[in-house]
Amino acid sequence: MSEKLWGGRFSKSTDNLMESFSESVSFDKKLYKYDIEGSMAHARMLAKQGIISEDEADAIVIALGKIKQMIDNGEFDFRIEDEDIHMNIEHKLIEMIGKTGGKLHTARSRNDQVALDIRLLLRDVSIEIIDKITVLLKEIVKLAEDYIDVVMPGFTHMQHAQPVLFSHYLLAYYEKFKRDADRFRDNLKRIDVMPLGSGALAGTGFPIDRRFVAERLKFSKISRNSMDSVSDRDFAVEFLSNVAIFAMHTSRFAEEMVIFSTSEFDFIDLPDEFCTGSSIMPQKKNPDAVELIRGKTARTYGNLMQLLTLMKSLPLTYNRDMQEDKESLFDSIDTVMGILNVMIKMLPNIKPKKSSMEKALNQGFITATDLADYLTKKGMSFREAHKITGEIVAYAEKENKRLEDISVKELKGFSDLIESNILDILHYRKAIDSRKSYGGTAKENVLRIIDEIKKEINEKGGNAIECPRCGYPVKVYKNPIPTVDIIIALNDKIVLIRRKNEPLGWAIPGGFVDYGESVEKAAVREAKEETGLDVEIIGLVGVYSKPDRDPRAHTISTVFYAKAENIPAAGDDALDVGLFDIDSLPEDIVFDHRKILEDYFKKNI
Ligand code: ARG
Repeated sequence: MSEKLWGGRFSKSTDNLMESFSESVSFDKKLYKYDIEGSMAHARMLAKQGIISEDEADAIVIALGKIKQMIDNGEFDFRIEDEDIHMNIEHKLIEMIGKTGGKLHTARSRNDQVALDIRLLLRDVSIEIIDKITVLLKEIVKLAEDYIDVVMPGFTHMQHAQPVLFSHYLLAYYEKFKRDADRFRDNLKRIDVMPLGSGALAGTGFPIDRRFVAERLKFSKISRNSMDSVSDRDFAVEFLSNVAIFAMHTSRFAEEMVIFSTSEFDFIDLPDEFCTGSSIMPQKKNPDAVELIRGKTARTYGNLMQLLTLMKSLPLTYNRDMQEDKESLFDSIDTVMGILNVMIKMLPNIKPKKSSMEKALNQGFITATDLADYLTKKGMSFREAHKITGEIVAYAEKENKRLEDISVKELKGFSDLIESNILDILHYRKAIDSRKSYGGTAKENVLRIIDEIKKEINEKGGNAIECPRCGYPVKVYKNPIPTVDIIIALNDKIVLIRRKNEPLGWAIPGGFVDYGESVEKAAVREAKEETGLDVEIIGLVGVYSKPDRDPRAHTISTVFYAKAENIPAAGDDALDVGLFDIDSLPEDIVFDHRKILEDYFKKNI
């Protein structure tokens, strides 16, 4: 009988069948990195709150680091008797450091733990997807620029409709994929909520500090209802929906590539590297990559339906059913990454076949609308013009002629409004260039849009939106997190703290602003927590945006200067405090704090 971590109230051991039926470690081991990251933050918090000792937290964090290394190196023995990744890691921890390891799970449940792990995973994955879509967007614009002079028939009902620029067609996908990236970015707002501390469902009686854990894990918000936190998977449903929509767009493009590369169409040449041959028909070049993009879209829909259906009748709060949330999620993640990687590599090597596209434009009376518009501009009602144009098309069909091959004399027989300048509009190039309405296919329009898009991509650092708080362009959408730094003057010296955590070095005391707290209040509170000093704020040094300091968070720091009188003592995150002269600052100052101090000194000369 294998000892379960929860085995206390049981007198019989679990049936082997039950063990293999209920285990999830075979797939949720993918979460190990996030599980360990969350546990480290939790252990540090327990120590800060005096729930376990600092030494115990150190031992736990060090052992967790070793476990992570073992898993990284494929040296960890996952046991299905331990059910899931959470208990596999905890069991190992206890094996390594004994009773101290058993303290890690204080004030925590697997219910809030697994919710945290999934959120951490989806946050990283969403950011990666947004970055990859941005690369794809750049490739689309490049292609649109390279082939700006290629024209093609545009279709409705899969029938020749009106001539368009090939670039205009490509840029339609720019817009679709851009919206997809926006959707993933928006989803991040819902993912970015820290659930740990909700316990099994009702919270905990231990004096925990959830804000501290959120800060460590770079979440900008903490969940505010424990029952919601452990039962919520909306953010994952939304993610799967975003994947499905994106896949749907790629599938439409893929379908076109399949059709356009047939010998019947012969519009494009797909890169050899993304096609395969036939084992029996030597002449064949099959468009497998795009067919598979089309095909794999199906499973992204299936995964979305699976999770929606899984959640639809679950009473609050956690139910074991929810363990089934993972495989569809993992599968959609793998699928979307695969699609993106192929699209990014294949798209730049797609070659439009200019002459066959133009040849196609000579069939199907593609400028008939322009002829009707011509008559309308001359004063005929559009309905009447539509009818007469239809008669001309029927005549051309009978005579086996293109519209531009019918003589002006013949055309005049249909309406005497037609004059010799009619020939100017019947050619497809003319038709394209006439469509100058905003969003239309005229070359000058398309070039203007390309310019606009290039600015969008380049000036804002790839794929950015302006931070609503500081206006700084942030590369991927990261919720702005307000922080404060306080430069404390004490007897002509400056108080700095030596950090306990990465990045190691000296820093200005500071921290996160709490909910509903003013930045001034946060500065006074943080100064007290970090240095034990009661400070009096004197003034503002400035507001510093730190979009790149962390791959996940975009922190905006309000920096104050303040004065204090007593002797400081290292608090919270600090190993040490020190007093420094203006001109003898320590070497290893982290972040951009040297610059902030220089700005302060400039202000105070
Ligand atoms: N493996 C479980 C899951 O993924 C972890 C949570 C278990 N909670 C519980 N109350 N049994 O859902």
